[in-house]
Amino acid sequence: MASSTRRTSATCWCARWPGSPSICRPMRMPDMAEGEVSGNAPALEARGLHKRYGAVHALRGIDLAVWRGEMFALLGPNGAGKTTLFSIFATLLKPSEGTAQVLGFDSVRERVAVRQRMGIVFQEPALEGKLSVRDNLHLMGLFYGLSSRAAKTRSAELLVTLGLEDVAAREAQKLSGGQKRRVELARALVATPEVLFLDEATLGLDVDARRLFWAEVRHYVSAGGTVFLTTHYMDEAEPADRIALIDHGQIIALGSPQELKNRVGGGVLLLATDDDAQAAAWLREHGHHPEISARGVLLVASEPAAVLPEVLAHLPVRTRRAEVHEPSLEDVFLKLTGRALEDGNGKPAPRAQGGQP
Ligand SMILES: Nc1ncnc2c1ncn2[C@@H]1O[C@H](COP(=O)(O)OP(=O)(O)O)[C@@H](O)[C@H]1O
Ligand SMILES: [Mg+2]
Repeated sequence: MASSTRRTSATCWCARWPGSPSICRPMRMPDMAEGEVSGNAPALEARGLHKRYGAVHALRGIDLAVWRGEMFALLGPNGAGKTTLFSIFATLLKPSEGTAQVLGFDSVRERVAVRQRMGIVFQEPALEGKLSVRDNLHLMGLFYGLSSRAAKTRSAELLVTLGLEDVAAREAQKLSGGQKRRVELARALVATPEVLFLDEATLGLDVDARRLFWAEVRHYVSAGGTVFLTTHYMDEAEPADRIALIDHGQIIALGSPQELKNRVGGGVLLLATDDDAQAAAWLREHGHHPEISARGVLLVASEPAAVLPEVLAHLPVRTRRAEVHEPSLEDVFLKLTGRALEDGNGKPAPRAQGGQP
């Protein structure tokens, strides 16, 4: 990514954030290809973070480091605390206790410095609907303090790389859902941020649109950027370098996708039966530790294929389908919490206070 010099602008997009003064200051973005990576200093760091909304204890002691150049996913069910943690890192919310740092800057005391170096895509649309795609990007560049010429050049580059050239002149409100999300991503990238925050950024998109979106995010990471994303879809977390599983405001597991799956053990036997509760009870009586999920009865075993014949022969209920597979992130979550990760209703979680501009 090319270096660019930023200028102070009179109007600042970040002034749209609650209680925020204009934050744009002259600054020089680092060339991420050359890198200003200082040793192993984390890009994001949380220490002893708690967040309470009145009686709701949304974050219960988060300690976390995200490394520079890492694609990091926060994966958990609706209500787990993802948007709350995301909003604290992204300077949109103050913690009740503890500290959060982004690129060495405190997310409360030095939020100006943090905002200058980050790009963000919210769960909810933030485009100017009446403006063209090109103008949305150009405007965001100006808000970030780029010169008009630099903003135009950068917007033009992003229109090409994100496959938006054909719709560049179209009003943002007339785009498809997938196109809108790509414009949101382009806007977040227009000032070449060092950290990109994505909160459930592809919620509601079809598979093709999600694939295109994530391909661009990976492109950004391969150029040296750091990504912190939240999702409740395991397949979106899967390409991340590391994943933190979050549940009830606590990180319950952290590691690469493979490390997390290794925690489950050998493999998974999934049975769809006429009576899953009875099947699970029988399995328990015979020394197994089954979990019941929406997909059926799930049994983790070092060699699930070896268990299958005995189970099929003796289970007192009819088995409609039996399947053996490698552990998935869904299985990891189920094993750790006894509950399913994806609720399947696609409903967004309640929004954190002041969390969106
Ligand atoms: N502004 C708020 N006021 C009260 N409770 C909130 C607020 N924002 C979030 N919560 C609660 O905090 C918990 C975590 O919410 P959130 O961080 O949005 O979870 P997620 O993004 O994982 O769905 C949930 O119980 C949610 O209802
Ligand atoms: Mg959320």
